[in-house]
Amino acid sequence: MSVAPFDQRDGVIWYDGKLVPWTDATLHVLSHGLHYASAVFEGERAYGGEIFKSTEHSERLRTSAEILDFEIPYSVAEIDAAKRLVLEKNGQKDAYVRPIAWRGSEMMGVSAQHNKIHLAIATWEWPSYFDPAQRLKGIRLDMAEYRRPDPATIPCKAKAAGLYMICTISKHKAERKGYSDALMLDWRGHVAECTGANVFFIRDGVIHTPTPDCFLDGITRRTVIDLARRRGFEVQERTILPAELEGFNECFITGTAAEVTPVAEIGPYTFQPGNMTKVLMEDYMAEVQPKAKAA
Ligand SMILES: Cc1ncc(COP(=O)(O)O)c(C=O)c1O
Repeated sequence: MSVAPFDQRDGVIWYDGKLVPWTDATLHVLSHGLHYASAVFEGERAYGGEIFKSTEHSERLRTSAEILDFEIPYSVAEIDAAKRLVLEKNGQKDAYVRPIAWRGSEMMGVSAQHNKIHLAIATWEWPSYFDPAQRLKGIRLDMAEYRRPDPATIPCKAKAAGLYMICTISKHKAERKGYSDALMLDWRGHVAECTGANVFFIRDGVIHTPTPDCFLDGITRRTVIDLARRRGFEVQERTILPAELEGFNECFITGTAAEVTPVAEIGPYTFQPGNMTKVLMEDYMAEVQPKAKAA
């Protein structure tokens, strides 16, 4: 895999309706999206040439923009087609797909009523190295200092660039201490999610996950809940207090990038990734594979 910086790679990027050479997909420094974080994006994965839940991601992208008070000038079907096109032109099968929409340069103050809305879609090679034995060792999480904010203070249902400010700070701090990621509480002090993934716990055969009332209800999260229920596992979406961490046997995180990743430690608490986590990891990897087309 190339280690070139992301602005110096080969391939094409879909930019405002056209495919452009990768290094030409630039924007001006006086872009509203850069100064005021008026940008929304998606993170998606293609497996075997097909983007998993592409339409759900395109819908969420448009909804995120609407929450930020702008409309992406492309329909869900057009965004889906553009993602397929750029993936195909880049000749990729197992890839990460990154659409991003932002406000342009017409106005450069808080108000941006007349700014053009741009949309770009990039894809890059990102195989999913699925080695269950390796993964079952589990990752280590720090406790983040920042908390997911009160929904009365931010548009918490949007996958908006600005909401990642506290995630990057928290993740950096965790990484500097040797952890892979950080678990964030919410503004009330309840367990919320990681910096780019949702979190699940298992105790006595029952799966527990925080109710997504102030953070992203991930597409992977919903997929894994469906898979668990199909297996007959009980899933409780509820308020989880940090004091409960001590009593859980298993823990895993979910997200497009993380897929289903077991957790071995959160701060002082340890977990033993077990059979239920393993079953869900395997079910998820089976679920994301391209479905055979009906004859
Ligand atoms: C903060 C945050 N929470 C949760 C998720 C999981 O969302 P999804 O499963 O839709 O990728 C992500 C990833 O996009 C994220 O960035």
